[in-house]
Amino acid sequence: MKVTVVGAGNVGATCADVLAYREVANEVVVVDIKEGMAEGKALDIWQKAPINLYDTRTIGTTGDYTKTAGSEVVVITSGLPRKPGMSRDDLIGTNAGIVKSVTENVIQHSPDAIIIIVSNPLDVMTYQAHLTSGKSRNKVMGMAGILDTARYRAFLAEALNVSPKDIQAVLMGGHGDTMVPLPRYTTVGGIPVTELIDDSTLQAIVDRTKTGGGELVKLMGTSAWYAPGAAAAQMVEAIVRDQKRVFPVCTNLEGEYGIKNCYLGVPVILGKNGIEKVIELKLNDEEMALMKTSEGHVREVMQVLDNLG
Ligand code: NAI
Ligand code: 2OP
Repeated sequence: MKVTVVGAGNVGATCADVLAYREVANEVVVVDIKEGMAEGKALDIWQKAPINLYDTRTIGTTGDYTKTAGSEVVVITSGLPRKPGMSRDDLIGTNAGIVKSVTENVIQHSPDAIIIIVSNPLDVMTYQAHLTSGKSRNKVMGMAGILDTARYRAFLAEALNVSPKDIQAVLMGGHGDTMVPLPRYTTVGGIPVTELIDDSTLQAIVDRTKTGGGELVKLMGTSAWYAPGAAAAQMVEAIVRDQKRVFPVCTNLEGEYGIKNCYLGVPVILGKNGIEKVIELKLNDEEMALMKTSEGHVREVMQVLDNLG
């Protein structure tokens, strides 16, 4: 069973590494346009196999999509990352072209593949891949919610001095500053988080989560990769192992939450058919208003893509 990762940069290489050491696939193919980059990273990951004890083969290629043929899942990470001062939306012109051409190559060689988009601006790049591939919504999705929820959970674990393993949470909406963390659906070992933390500390964590990507861009001069790569790999694992995991995933809403034809993060069940079900939470008025604000922002950027043609 084969999985392809397009883009051998920070996120793509991390994702391929996690897929390999967790033996999620027999073969992981990494593709890049930078001569030798994918081959080098794939070889390095393969040379780690005797140390970390896995037998997933990792193969790199500079643009030869015949090597990706028959992939079950393809993760697309190719594209520019943010630099300090940039928003994710500033990347749209360049990354839309890259996501379009990569998706065309992917579906030519793996027509049945499930596609996971990572490139930014995430929600709108998922829309681009959907337009290019013509696939049904269960087979084209975006990774952001697992990452954003992980940031929220990590900040809470630190503030409460508990294991991040015991924090369960849901975060919805677009992958940007309008994302919607949901304290009402956040628990710590089954205990509602609001019983364990005061309002102002919780609000500060919600705010830090919303700008969590930007915090890392400021520190490093480029965007994050360990958590994003691992988050994308977790989605691949849920699909290839048919785990029926419940994750926030970016998908095209078709009337859920009263929203149609807009790409937003919502909780879904992920299994062998990709998105097997969109879960509709009973949001209260305040939560729904935040979702609507996020929808408005994503729609504006979708419109920019439509105008680019
Ligand atoms: P990077 O610059 O380290 O890697 C990107 C790679 O894509 C480069 O190696 C580049 O050569 C390659 N590439 C460019 N055009 C290509 C093409 N046509 N075909 C194949 N490969 C191509 O960037 P990084 O940090 O890995 O980020 C990748 C993307 O993921 C960025 O757009 C970034 O904003 C996004 N991102 C999204 C996250 C999310 O939560 N959805 C989280 C982190 C990053
Ligand atoms: C992140 O949230 C930049 O989308 C990227 O780290």
